Amino acid sequence: MIYLDYAATTPISETALHTYNEVANNFFANSNSLHDYGDQANQVYSLCMKNIGEILNAKPDNIYFTNGGSESNLIAIDLLLSLSDRREIIVSKAEHNSVHQAMSLYETKGYEIKWIEFGKNYIVNMKKLNELVSNNTALVVLQHVNGEIGTIQPVEEVSELCQRNGAYFHIDAVQSFGQVNCNHLSSLATSFSLSGHKIYGPKGIGLLYFNEEKFDRINSFSKIVLEGNTTDLPTICAFTTALEEADERRFLEEKRLKDLRIKFIHQINNIKDLSIIEGKEDIQVPSIVGLSIKYIEGQYMMLECNRKGFAISTGSACDVKYQSYPKIVEAIEGEDLHNNFFRVSFGRLTTEEDLSNFSIVMNEICHSSILNRR
Ligand SMILES: Cc1ncc(COP(=O)(O)O)c(C=O)c1O
Repeated sequence: MIYLDYAATTPISETALHTYNEVANNFFANSNSLHDYGDQANQVYSLCMKNIGEILNAKPDNIYFTNGGSESNLIAIDLLLSLSDRREIIVSKAEHNSVHQAMSLYETKGYEIKWIEFGKNYIVNMKKLNELVSNNTALVVLQHVNGEIGTIQPVEEVSELCQRNGAYFHIDAVQSFGQVNCNHLSSLATSFSLSGHKIYGPKGIGLLYFNEEKFDRINSFSKIVLEGNTTDLPTICAFTTALEEADERRFLEEKRLKDLRIKFIHQINNIKDLSIIEGKEDIQVPSIVGLSIKYIEGQYMMLECNRKGFAISTGSACDVKYQSYPKIVEAIEGEDLHNNFFRVSFGRLTTEEDLSNFSIVMNEICHSSILNRR
């Protein structure tokens, strides 16, 4: 079986796993304890915070650990809204399910949610966003890299717009770390989210960068959750290793994945009625390929590929869990992807041969679908 679903999750890297085992064996003490064991654990913790701070260009005091990207998103939204008197939130339709769920909740609390679509270039419609953001806007939430089609969103422009209007800006960077430069996000956003399992780190850990002077004034359950309890040092250290590794490998990996993408697209390009949902090269991460074939349901494609030994997906795993359409299906202005969308995503272990074999299988499935329709 060949795994082509890296945007859903990645396997933990050997180095991150090794770090986990070493720290679990040698630094098991509670880092808040006052004895020497506790002190040693605390020193390891401080080193992780220092290293992460350097990678993210952020003060360690603004970095918090959560149980994943979804929790980081939910906590950030909750904390930021608790700090604002404004009642309007602007969110892209393509956001992750965690953000959609938060919006449903805040709508019942009387907030006005303004949804924004992606334009023909597959990024958020900036003209519309410019019209919507005002001094009534409490918060804008936007992914850095879209998890279903892999387009890079114009976070710099959005940040400027938010600053001009005094609105908070939360960036969901879960799909972007290790794929694109993230060391400027701390200067663009009030908060941003990362997740361990998307970057070859452990599952069950996420990061929230949160930079707001009024943090001390917050009085909420989210803040208590964020400030945490006993530190899970082995997981934090393994996550730190994964962050360091992903950061170091970014340029080489990007080049390799770009080559893979070009060859893969060349091999599938002549499939009848195939649409590749992608941005221009400079706003597209190479590892995520969003696809749609007019006469084949995404779900059928995924199941057939699975039967033939390839693991792909119909979009975000959370939407599959809630049996809803991938968010991207409704997010693109004037484009009806209906239920034909599926996603192929590559990663560190993907080879040219894997993709060449996969493209043969895709061609076969499409060919037999056409014959069956006759
Ligand atoms: C863009 C984006 N945000 C958030 C998440 C949620 O992250 P986690 O699985 O760590 O909760 C995902 C996961 O698919 C994602 O793709």
